[in-house]
Amino acid sequence: MPKSAHYSRRLFLTHSSLGLLAFAGMPTLLRAMGGMQAMPTITPNKASPNFRPDVELELYCRSASVPILPGKSTLVQQYTGKLINGPSGTLVEIPNAYLGPLIHLQKGQKVRIHLHNNLAEPTITHWHGLHVPAEMDGHPRYAIAPGQTFVYEFEVLNRASMNIYHPHPHEATARQVYHGLAGALFVHDSEEAALGLPSGDYEIPLVIQDRRFDEDNQLLYAAGMHGMHDRMMGYYGDRILVNGRPDFTIDVDTRAYRLRVLNGSTARIYKLGWDDGTPITVLGVDGGLLEVSENKPYVMLAPGERLDVWADFTGRAVGSQLVMRSLPFSGVLPKMAERMQRGMGGMGGGHQMGMMGGMMHGLALPVGSDFPIFTARVKRKVSDSPTLPKQLSTIHRYGVGDTANANKPVPIGISEGPMAMLLNGRPYAFDDVQPNERIRLNTVQLMEIFHAHGGGHGGKASVEYKAQEPSEQNGSMQHGGMGGMGGGRRGHGMGMHGGSEDGGMGMMGGMHGGGEQGGMMGKGGGMGGMGMMMSMAHPIHLHGQSFQIVSRSMAPGNEEDYDSVRHGFIESGLKDTVLVMPGETVRIIKPFQDFKGLFMYHCHNLEHEDMGMMRDFLVE
Ligand code: C2O
Ligand code: CU
Ligand code: CU
Repeated sequence: MPKSAHYSRRLFLTHSSLGLLAFAGMPTLLRAMGGMQAMPTITPNKASPNFRPDVELELYCRSASVPILPGKSTLVQQYTGKLINGPSGTLVEIPNAYLGPLIHLQKGQKVRIHLHNNLAEPTITHWHGLHVPAEMDGHPRYAIAPGQTFVYEFEVLNRASMNIYHPHPHEATARQVYHGLAGALFVHDSEEAALGLPSGDYEIPLVIQDRRFDEDNQLLYAAGMHGMHDRMMGYYGDRILVNGRPDFTIDVDTRAYRLRVLNGSTARIYKLGWDDGTPITVLGVDGGLLEVSENKPYVMLAPGERLDVWADFTGRAVGSQLVMRSLPFSGVLPKMAERMQRGMGGMGGGHQMGMMGGMMHGLALPVGSDFPIFTARVKRKVSDSPTLPKQLSTIHRYGVGDTANANKPVPIGISEGPMAMLLNGRPYAFDDVQPNERIRLNTVQLMEIFHAHGGGHGGKASVEYKAQEPSEQNGSMQHGGMGGMGGGRRGHGMGMHGGSEDGGMGMMGGMHGGGEQGGMMGKGGGMGGMGMMMSMAHPIHLHGQSFQIVSRSMAPGNEEDYDSVRHGFIESGLKDTVLVMPGETVRIIKPFQDFKGLFMYHCHNLEHEDMGMMRDFLVE
């Protein structure tokens, strides 16, 4: 099967037969390109008689209609749960929300969860952040058909932390999460309990999401003419919902609270800050508590990331309020897309931008704009409040010397192109594990996440990309990653209206080139050039155990943008998702212990994930 020599031709044909740039078209072409294997069908796991659960619960995925905005209720997909056996606080419903119930587990508990698929499409659930066996991790290969049940059984090995459960079916993760399938899962342990942090009414989960609604209060999602752009940049709503509610407000006493924040958006990155300039006191991140709290002027929170915040309202006047906002920042999207979102589509875009302007209009809430997320209203004066513990936890840290590969980090090379979002030069394909994706069990690995197409990483662009057959296409990919694909070879047309295969790609050149016209990009064939223009931030997530961030380094030329975000990264805690800015290289250390099998790594911009920016590590 020709893998890529005729890639752009196939690509275009695929699209025209489905309707230009149709929402569903993208995966098809990626399959054509990557030689993707169909997911094998696997008999869903059943309860094992030898497993004695401490906690057993039912989890249903279903369609439902819930009130979100005033007026008509909204059709959503959601998780509902039922505790069969275990401590009574295990499941906590969030009233009136489409979000799944909060699940509270204790470290060491044995848990059995019966996942029932009552949707009209396949699904499977992943426990984002939990360290569980590969068969229990919700890999898309375990997706179950409507009407089927998958039984998960695992022991909670994690330390205290906030995690996420969400669907992970092949190419449909973003859409299902967007339509409501997601919930928070807390692990508790004795180290956390000993601190006496605010709990009960004083510990507040905050799941932040953005959504777009039509006039009938129904959810809009990437589709039609905008679909492709939406998937490339990620899909952004124009309304912020917290715990499933718009204009979210909490009433607080004059004391300390613990806020457990989760970015459950499919693509939107937030820069969280208090509106009066109070620093954010950070207790923990994805993988649980820091050793000591940190005060940050603001915190960047990308999709999939979590934040544990100490919010002390002591001394504030009754009647006053404090607003958590997303503060202004720049540089996470390609410049042209950033301008588009701000409704400045024509600026600097040359004459081709007229067309693009027609295709994309400004967003009500451009990424990086300033908007409120939720409000805390001080309602009641109380006289005592817990104090912030000096030492929060002890983290077991590895040094580079503890890794099995100190001189040869495992590469995670990001490449973004008009038609493909790739890792290590390949789109997701089942059963396509490459040599550098094979990891020895019970080792600690040094890993390097970087932009394969440039931004200071030119030399690394050829990472393990294996050409399927010699072709011009593959040749150029080896030099510069995916950036100029199509744009480089043929692009000189107008895409949307071109009606030729030149066009489909040329349009993208124009859009992201930001230069005079797309054709310039095309002729230049500038892999690096276009790659740089396309470059955007990606929250890279690795399944399995949490990792440490060892270093971040930034290619020159991005200082101004980087300055608007860099004080909001927290490197002292354990992470499972890390935001990698354009031009940035991030080194991490991650253990791969206890379990063999396939563990995914992918972009947690879920639109990117579904476009193929996802791969498997095989732990063996
Ligand atoms: Cu939260 Cu593989 O994802
Ligand atoms: Cu995960
Ligand atoms: Cu991404």
